[in-house]
Amino acid sequence: MSKFKRTLVTTALPYANGPVHIGHLAGVYVPADIYVRYLRMKGEDILHIGGSDEHGVPITLKARNEGVTPQDIVDKYHNLIKDSFEKFGITFDVYSRTSSEMHHKTASEFFKKLYDNGAFIEKETDQYYDEEAGQFLADRYITGTCPQCNSAGAYGDQCESCGTSLNATDLINPKSMVSGSTPVMKKTKHWYLPLDQHQEFLEKWILKDHKEWKPNVYGQCKSWLDLGLQPRAVSRDLNWGVPVPLDGAEGKVLYVWFDAPIGYISATRELTDDWEKYWKDPETRLIHFIGKDNIVFHCIVFPSMLKAEGSFNLPDNVPANEFLNLEGDKISTSRNWAVWLHEYLDDFKDKQDVLRYVLTANAPETKDNDFTWRDFQARNNNELVAILGNFVNRAVVLTHKYYDGEVPLMGETDPFDIETLEAIPALVTRIESNLDQFKFREAVREAMNLARLGNKYLADTEPWKLKKTNPERVKTILNISLQITANLALVMEPFLPFTAKKMRDMLAMDEMNWGECGKTELLRAAHKINEGQLLFEKIEDEKIQEQLDRLAQTKISNETDNKEAAPAKEDIAFDDFTKMDMRVGTILEAEKVAKTKKLLKIKVDTGIDKRTVVSGIAEFFEPETIVGQQVCILVNLAPRKIRGIESQGMILMAEDADGRLDFVAPGSKIKPGSEIR
Ligand code: MF3
Ligand code: ZN
Repeated sequence: MSKFKRTLVTTALPYANGPVHIGHLAGVYVPADIYVRYLRMKGEDILHIGGSDEHGVPITLKARNEGVTPQDIVDKYHNLIKDSFEKFGITFDVYSRTSSEMHHKTASEFFKKLYDNGAFIEKETDQYYDEEAGQFLADRYITGTCPQCNSAGAYGDQCESCGTSLNATDLINPKSMVSGSTPVMKKTKHWYLPLDQHQEFLEKWILKDHKEWKPNVYGQCKSWLDLGLQPRAVSRDLNWGVPVPLDGAEGKVLYVWFDAPIGYISATRELTDDWEKYWKDPETRLIHFIGKDNIVFHCIVFPSMLKAEGSFNLPDNVPANEFLNLEGDKISTSRNWAVWLHEYLDDFKDKQDVLRYVLTANAPETKDNDFTWRDFQARNNNELVAILGNFVNRAVVLTHKYYDGEVPLMGETDPFDIETLEAIPALVTRIESNLDQFKFREAVREAMNLARLGNKYLADTEPWKLKKTNPERVKTILNISLQITANLALVMEPFLPFTAKKMRDMLAMDEMNWGECGKTELLRAAHKINEGQLLFEKIEDEKIQEQLDRLAQTKISNETDNKEAAPAKEDIAFDDFTKMDMRVGTILEAEKVAKTKKLLKIKVDTGIDKRTVVSGIAEFFEPETIVGQQVCILVNLAPRKIRGIESQGMILMAEDADGRLDFVAPGSKIKPGSEIR
């Protein structure tokens, strides 16, 4: 028997700066909802805690860009997310938010307790500060030139051109992404959670005591631990979040990843005065459902916080999923490459269970997986319609046709009937054991096998052919078919709750406990069932094509105008312009500069002379392909040495917001040396 009396399930708090998409659903909310519905049916004491994560820098930037307050942003998305979860049948006991008063109080107290326990270290560091915006800048919000590869547009934490990971202080010519101004260095003090001091404990607790965690979770924890843990700052210089509750900490808030998981506690407190029982009683089991990008926070950081606090339980399991891709590409909010839940609910009315089914049957449980609209259609048409819907419909229709909607008395059985009856509890056992191990794909497959069993049973026994010759046998067959249907109504509840409800209504069944699953007398003889209802309908090609067209459109607009043009520079005088001597030239020779990725050494006929220019275009052009290309060249730019080669002038290039380069060239051949003005 389990040592636990009750279960507290948490689901990652989605950031309230965008709607939720199928990646969130498949990774976190669908599996969690299956699990909590299952435990509820078993009559367990269980709470499902959720809410919106409403702090952090991205929310403040989005607000700034849209000219509204951060609170406006989170209000909008919190309501949208909460509403779409509800319509989709994700059953929270509480869905709260981290901007709530209760959360501010809870997070603040938690920090204070750790502070008083001496659980933090304090450090003063130099940090970039945007004087125009009046705020410190997270590394991600500074851009500049990469010290490694010289490409512009590197971020303060990483250069996406050459992949080097950077510190903001490494950037050449740094610019704030908030105001565009040049940031200055300023000293700032922060509190750090010394994870290194928890290393030994975590190694034992995870690597020795939780070997049963999913391999993807265990493996990621092991790599973090093998690397050696470092202190992590738990505060930030920002004016949006939970203020650091200490004297002299004005302008500082708790780091979003410090306050957000405490949100689980705050939400439980909002729900019940008895919240401590769910968090502190060792007989409560704590389970975090999350996506893989959250593993370190839920397996290493948050447990260290809970441990340092001293009175809380640590998670018993963290069944994190991998990522779901969409039509072969990574889901991306900023590129609008997603299927948004609220849009799905509009486009596919009353088809919540179809999406729940597809996301479960194809869940990224052990590796990243791909969602495609064709697979969605196929699973609906070939599985939900052809197997589940078809079987249930036949059982119900035949009962009305032959017995006026009354469950017939089971007559004589033959070995095939017995075999079929015995397969029911065996399947239920398999469903259960998979659910207990968080293997939801396998669990739903076994649940569908129950419908497959029923279909095969009807196809093999063909009761419609026996009605005249052997009416007693037909009663047995229909009774067994109805028992399978009733079992389906139960086992499908965690996976397909809307369909299960329709099935219970059709069968005129009361809600039942999971303990009834597998029984073969769920419906008694003479019990009257209701008329059949449509469970699933075929999804036609046109409906799928609409979705594919929309994605194709997104692709096109991402390629053409996904980024805005840089703002105009300051005005200059006409004289400044005429100082530049620009000519049409023709490329005579081109070769790669050794040991560089980007540079080409190019010989140009300028009409005035033949000269050498070094140009950073090697990523876009093979040297042999540009010989003969006409270009614009700035000929009176003072020569400079690049990699030991004297570059005389500059070839003008057009660069789009993604950094793609192309030549600026005359529309038709023009004599080298022609002036550009
Ligand atoms: N908002 C985070 C994300 O979407 C998840 C926060 S989970 C919590 O990645 F534990 F911090 F609440
Ligand atoms: Zn670089």
